[in-house]
Parts: sequence; structure tokens; C-alpha cells
Amino acid sequence: MTRADIDLQVQLGRLQLPNPILVASGTFGYAREMEAFVDLKRLGGIIPKTITKEPRKGNPPLRTVETAAGLLNSIGLDNDGMEQFIVHILPYLAELGVPILASIAGRNQTEFVELAERLSHASTTSGQASLAGIELNISCPNVSHGVDFGTDPIQCERLVAACRAASALPIVAKLTPNVTSICDMARAASAGGADAIALINTCLGMAIDWRGRRPRLGNVLGGLSGPAIKPIALRCVWQAAQATKTAIIGIGGIASVDDCMEFFVAGASAVQLGTVNFYNPRATMDVLDALPDALAEAGVLSVADVVGTLQVIPS
Ligand SMILES: Cc1cc2nc3c(=O)[nH]c(=O)nc-3n(C[C@H](O)[C@H](O)[C@H](O)COP(=O)(O)O)c2cc1C
Repeated sequence: MTRADIDLQVQLGRLQLPNPILVASGTFGYAREMEAFVDLKRLGGIIPKTITKEPRKGNPPLRTVETAAGLLNSIGLDNDGMEQFIVHILPYLAELGVPILASIAGRNQTEFVELAERLSHASTTSGQASLAGIELNISCPNVSHGVDFGTDPIQCERLVAACRAASALPIVAKLTPNVTSICDMARAASAGGADAIALINTCLGMAIDWRGRRPRLGNVLGGLSGPAIKPIALRCVWQAAQATKTAIIGIGGIASVDDCMEFFVAGASAVQLGTVNFYNPRATMDVLDALPDALAEAGVLSVADVVGTLQVIPS
């Protein structure tokens, strides 16, 4: 078996991707910022920063703090809003020839549905679809009501179903790890008709300046990402994969091809790289260079052949 025999394409519900290596929302700007470092065309998919219906200023500074093995952030969905995205950013992204999944967040179900409808419409008016799908950010810990739909299975299922009905585009539900049962949330997203479930968003945390008796983040609490959360993310992916047949996209501390392979074996059909883009902007390219050999080493011809192959010996 040689590198040339390996098929990197993956299918997640109705979403087909040329390869399983994507970049996570909020860690890759709107892609243009990264074009000097990354051959964008090689990516399996890009998820730009989450957009909201109206522009948002985000949270007060400090918005990021480095911790021992990760990054704590409380950006608070700072963005220019849906219309600016459609007019100024979507045309650039559409030209890249890479699957783009718009990440959206609403303050309530009506706003989520409006965003899904408007983006689907904008995606098809040019005659050729500029979006490959929509990722529902129901997991942002840094805004008020940011996780309501990601922590209540009934609300989650309803929201996913409403967005699915409002848009012909494939729907990805991005879940938060800050719940008691990730299995319940994965089942709810699946029951709502999600094409794929992405997990995890950041883990709620905080940092303290004890001398000043003050929180380090302006928003007091923030979301932890990076290597520190990889074991939590692997656990969530594995548990969710036991709970549902819906395709899973693994996220959390992924920085190398070995990390990606661990997520595939745990049950993810694709992965998103996030925080690593800040300290090694070429990480996605390194992973893509190494992936065919890693799959060949695993003795498989496609990514799907390795997904969910973890052997757990019963005790
Ligand atoms: C600075 C920063 C901003 C983020 N902004 C978003 C966002 O706008 N929407 C979203 O769904 N996730 C956002 N995330 C979460 C990431 O997409 C990802 O789920 C999380 O960081 C875990 O992956 P990682 O450990 O590889 O970074 C953000 C993460 C960071 C570090």
C-alpha cells in the first residue's frame, strides 16, 4: 500500500469533504489572515469566526490569557454581523474552492433560523453554492445564553430541526463539553437531523491574579482550549460515538497527525484544528503531509476505515 492508494475524502451526512482536516471557528479569522502561511486550497474545510445577526463588540479586555497547557479566551463573539459577512467576506471565501461552513449563533431560535435562511439564500444567489454547510454554535461559553441550546437536549433537538427545515445546506451542531451528559446532547442533535456533530467547544475556566485579588479575564470566566483539553475532547468524541450513528467532527487540542489519528480511532470522521493555528500556523499543512502515511501505517485505504476502531477490552 502506498500513499497514492489512500483516499482522504470523507462523507458526513450530506456533507462531502475532500479530506478530514478542517480549521475551527474563531482560530483562523476569516481565512484571508492566514493565506500567507497556509495553502488554503488544501484544507478539508474552513469554519470562519462565528457570525451573529447584528454586529457585536465582544467582551472587555483582557480577552485571552495563556495557561500552563492551553489558552483561556473570552472574546464574546466579536464580529461585524451577518450582512457584512455576506457582502464582504463570503465572496472571498467562495473563490477559494474549499468547503466553507458558516458558523452562526443566535440569541434565540428565531435568530438562528433567520441566520440559516439568509445564509442559504446568499449562498445560492450567485448561481453556484458558496457555502458547503452551516455550523450551529450552540456552545459558546463567553456570551449570555451562548450555551442554552447546547445544554438542554429538548431545546437542542428543536433548534437543529428548525435550522434544518430552514436551510437546504448540511447542518453541523457544535456542542459544549460543559454538560453532565454529552451522550444526551449528541442524541438530541442527531434526533434534530444534524448531518454531523462537532465537539468540543472550549471548557469553562478562569484565571486569577491573586496579588491583585482580581480575575485575569475582563469577563471573569472564559473558555479553555489547546493541549490541556485534548483528553476531555477525546472522551467526549468516544462517548458521543457510542450514543449516536451521526458523523462526528473532533475538536480540542489537536496539533499533530497522531492527535488526528487518535480522534479518528475514537470515532471522529473529521477533525478541526483550533488553538494550534496561533502557535504553529502551518499545523494543518504538516498534518495533511503526514496523514496518508499514518493511514497506511494503520493498514487502511480510507479515513472511514479507521473511524471508531478503538478496541476496549471489557474488564
Ligand atoms: C480565541 C478563540 C476564539 C474562538 N471563537 C470561537 C467562535 O467564534 N465560534 C466557535 O464555535 N468556537 C470558537 N472557539 C472554539 C474553537 O473553535 C474550538 O472549539 C476550541 O478552541 C477547542 O479546540 P482547540 O483546543 O483546538 O482550540 C474559539 C476558540 C478560541 C481559542
